[in-house]
Amino acid sequence: MEIKIVDHPLALARLTILRDERSDNSVFRAAAADLGTMLVYEAARDLPVTNFETTTPVGVAEGTRLENPPIIVPIIRAGLSMIEPALSMIPDAQVGFIGLARDEKTHQPVPYLEALPSDLTNQPVFIVDPMLATGGSLLNALQLLADRGATDITAVCMISAQPGVDALEHSGLPVRLVTTCIDPQLNEDAYIVPGLGDAGDRLYGPRNIDL
Ligand code: PRP
Ligand code: URA
Repeated sequence: MEIKIVDHPLALARLTILRDERSDNSVFRAAAADLGTMLVYEAARDLPVTNFETTTPVGVAEGTRLENPPIIVPIIRAGLSMIEPALSMIPDAQVGFIGLARDEKTHQPVPYLEALPSDLTNQPVFIVDPMLATGGSLLNALQLLADRGATDITAVCMISAQPGVDALEHSGLPVRLVTTCIDPQLNEDAYIVPGLGDAGDRLYGPRNIDL
């Protein structure tokens, strides 16, 4: 599996704000928006482009646009924080939605929403979620995308954990990973260590979904 680590100093500075337990909801959201923008920018680096002529006030220049913009697919809730950053970089992208919540006891993802095009054949996908921990949520989402024919999938995550990266690698699903860092381990509650805590709660407050 292809893994791109985005260790630009500005990305690492935003990651530090996310990790800091003193960052409140608004500080956390602002840092997440900045880091999400940087990660999507890097994830888009190798997308195919089309060239065309564009007329400037003084001549003709070669223009460039994405040949086939990716669809952005956030995993709700925490992935919602990466939609606007992604659209600021790729304004003509469409957006699909997957709602998953981890059961706090089993740590398994529980699906509650699926709003995607039925056919994703020949459609690049950027799946965005700040956290890759056990990998259960991302694997569940990837399977939904693969079932619709997606074969060109990029997972954009702020913090990944080694067990989740291993799970992705062993899944055989068609995915590459763009992330700021890979943390070594999970604790007994399947939280990433050192991680940043519960991304959804730090963005939006405690969740109250009846699983
Ligand atoms: C978080 C995160 C991922 C998932 C990662 O969501 O945003 O979707 O956990 O964990 P995993 O790799 O072990 O599956 P959570 O289920 O806490 O829901 P939330 O975003 O609604 O808070
Ligand atoms: N989900 C989170 O929000 N944080 C973790 O550390 C693991 C899963």
